[in-house]
Amino acid sequence: MSRRALIAGNWKMYGLAAALMELDALKAALAAAPATGDVAICPPATLLAQAAWKLKGAPILLGGQDCHTAGEGAHTGDLSAAMLADAGASLVIVGHSERRRDHGETDALVRAKADAALRAGLTPIVCVGETIEQRRAGQAEATVGAQIAGSLPAEGELVVAYEPVWAIGTGLTASTDEIAAMHGFIRSTLGPRAAATRILYGGSVKPQNAGEILALDEVDGALVGGASLKAADFSAIIRALK
Ligand code: 13P
Repeated sequence: MSRRALIAGNWKMYGLAAALMELDALKAALAAAPATGDVAICPPATLLAQAAWKLKGAPILLGGQDCHTAGEGAHTGDLSAAMLADAGASLVIVGHSERRRDHGETDALVRAKADAALRAGLTPIVCVGETIEQRRAGQAEATVGAQIAGSLPAEGELVVAYEPVWAIGTGLTASTDEIAAMHGFIRSTLGPRAAATRILYGGSVKPQNAGEILALDEVDGALVGGASLKAADFSAIIRALK
């Protein structure tokens, strides 16, 4: 089965309303050179509705960066998957390592969030990845395997993002051998949905290294942080798609 590539930008906690200008530039870049895969931007939730308005009719999907496990309720400050969908999102990132780190999110919680996303009609992008200590101890596969086993919903269409923690925002990228090996391992753990599930790589992806990473057989796209904030860089990564 051939999987359609996905290049998703995660703006993290960056971006006031002025950043929406980058979406105009991205729209123009994609109009000039259409992407050969899906393109998504996950802005801060405060910008979702305005971004959706701006991107009406454009080939750019929108995603949230997190959601609550419940459909609604007394949870001050949280957002449900249905709210993200209502604001224009079709995807949502869950279990990003920054949330696992900053908010103590466990695999079980991440799975419950992914299930909530599916119930609201959103495609979850479930993030996994080992720390440098785990890799040095020879535990990279065991760590990621446990995260996959614990964080993925039993069924439903989802995307997996492999983001080695040590490569996020550090300028360090995993080598193509390390990426190919881990993506192959992740696919081997996915069972019946292995062929249909997109596995993205994330961690210091930039225009300079996107070509060699996206050319790897088991890599179905990228989850891009810093380099997604500027349309020029992000569109260069999109153009690197095989
Ligand atoms: P950077 O591309 O800034 O390393 O971030 C990767 C990431 O965490 C995307 O979710």
